[in-house]
Amino acid sequence: MTKHPKLELTWIGKENRPRLEPRVLLEDPAKSYYAKQRVTDNDIFDNRLIFGDNLLALKALEQEFAGKIKCVVIDPPYNTGSAFEHYDDGVEHSLWLSLIRDRLDLFWRLLAENGSIWIMIDDNEAHYLKVLCDELFGRANFVANIVWQSKDTPGNNSAEIAETHNHIIAYRRSELFRPNLLARNEKQIATYKNPDDDPRGPWLATPLTRVEHRERDYYAIKNLAGKKVWPPKGSSWRRPPATMQELEKDRRIWWGKNGDAEFPMEKKFLSEVKAGVVNQTWWPYEFAGSTRNASAEMKGLFEGTKAFETPKPERLLQRILDLASVNGDWILDSFAGSGTAGAVAQKMGRRWIMVELGDHCHTHIIPRLKKVIDGEDQGGISNAVNWIGGGGFRYYRLAPSLLKKDKWGNWVISKDYNATLLAEALCKLEGFRYEPSESVYWQQGRSTERDFLYVT
Ligand SMILES: C[S@@+](CC[C@H](N)C(=O)[O-])C[C@H]1O[C@@H](n2cnc3c(N)ncnc32)[C@H](O)[C@@H]1O
Repeated sequence: MTKHPKLELTWIGKENRPRLEPRVLLEDPAKSYYAKQRVTDNDIFDNRLIFGDNLLALKALEQEFAGKIKCVVIDPPYNTGSAFEHYDDGVEHSLWLSLIRDRLDLFWRLLAENGSIWIMIDDNEAHYLKVLCDELFGRANFVANIVWQSKDTPGNNSAEIAETHNHIIAYRRSELFRPNLLARNEKQIATYKNPDDDPRGPWLATPLTRVEHRERDYYAIKNLAGKKVWPPKGSSWRRPPATMQELEKDRRIWWGKNGDAEFPMEKKFLSEVKAGVVNQTWWPYEFAGSTRNASAEMKGLFEGTKAFETPKPERLLQRILDLASVNGDWILDSFAGSGTAGAVAQKMGRRWIMVELGDHCHTHIIPRLKKVIDGEDQGGISNAVNWIGGGGFRYYRLAPSLLKKDKWGNWVISKDYNATLLAEALCKLEGFRYEPSESVYWQQGRSTERDFLYVT
C-alpha cells in the first residue's frame, strides 16, 4: 500500500506558539446590566461580555468552560486589506494564519463533545482556512461549507466578477454532534395535500421512477384503469416488484384523480416524514438576510453613534444557532463586533459569552444588549421569536499580567496585584478553583475534596 505523506499548510512563523498566562477575569459591576425584574421564568442572567484580546480571554475561560461550549460562532476579520472605522482588516497572510490558528486551538478545548464551530469568512482566506481546520480538527469532522448570499444587489460596480457570497465553514467537535432539523415553514407544509381524503392525512406525491436502467426494477405494473405501464426507456422504478405490491396494497400509490395516469407517484405522508427539514448548504439572502439588511438593523440601534461597518444580519445568526444549539446552551463569539451573536443568543434563550477588543465593546455592544434586555429592540429577529426582554450579562476585563520586569530586569509580581487578586491568580495558574475558606485564613483554592491551595 502506498503511504501518503501528511499534507499540511505551511507558512512563515507557523512553529511559533504563544505561551499564554491564564489571566483572572475582573468583573466591573458598573458596566454589567440586568433587567429590572424577571420577564419570564426562563430569563438568563449569567451571560458574559469580556473586553480585551480574545487569545488571552479564551485562555482565561479555559479553566471554567473547557468542554462546555455548545457552539462557537465567529466572524473574524476577513483580511480584506480594508481599514475600517472600528478595526483594521489587513495583516500579512502568514500572520493572519498564525493568529487564527492560535485561537482555533483554544476553541477546540472549550467545545463540548457534541458541539460545533462555525466560521464566517470570504474568498480572501476561506480556502486556506479550510485546509488549516482540516489539519487542526481532522477532515472527518468537517460538517459543511455553507454559501451565504451576502449581497442582495447585482454588484454591477465590480470591475471583474462581483463577489456576492460569504462562506460559513463548519466543523464538529466529534461524531456526537447532530445538526438540528429546521422547522417546516407554512409554504413547505402547504405542499402536502389530501386530494383522496386519506385518513392518514396530507401527503406529497414523489416520483416512482429513477433515471437509470436497472434490470431488476424494469417491469410492468397496472394502473387502476387496468392499463399496463412501464418505466420510460433508459429508466426504471425506484422500488423492486415486492415493495411496489406492498405500496399498492397499502394505498400508497397515486395514479391521479381518475386512477388512469401513466406515471405512478408514491404518497409521502406529512405525519411520517422527519420532524423537520434537513439543512442545505445554500443560504440565499431571502431567509438569512444580507449585509445590507444587517446595516439597516443597526440604524435603529445606535442613534448618534457611528454605525458599525461589518455587522451580520440577525437572521443569519439565528439560522446557525437553530442548527447547532438548543435553549440554555452556551454560545461563544470572540470577535463580537457590534454584538449580533449575543443579541440573537439572548433572544433565542441561549447563554452567551462574547469577547471584543475594540472600544465599540462600550459604544455598541453594551447599548445594544441593554436595549435587548429592556425589550426595546424590536428589530432583527425580535418579532419572529416574540422577544419581550429580560435577563442580563456581566462585564469583565482581563487582569494585568502577574509578573513584570523591574528596573534590573528581574521578574517580580506586578504592583497592580493586591493580596486577594494574587491569591486568585495563583489558583488559576495552578488549576485550582478560587474558593477562600471562611475558617482557614490562608486556604484560598480548592481542586478536589481534599486538595487545597494555600497562599501566604
Ligand atoms: C467582522 S467583525 C465582527 C462583526 C460581528 N459579527 C457583528 O455582527 O457585528 C470582527 C471583530 O473582531 C474584532 N477583533 C479582531 N481581533 C480581535 C482580537 N484579537 N480580540 C478580540 N476581538 C477582535 C474586531 O475589533 C471586530 O469588531
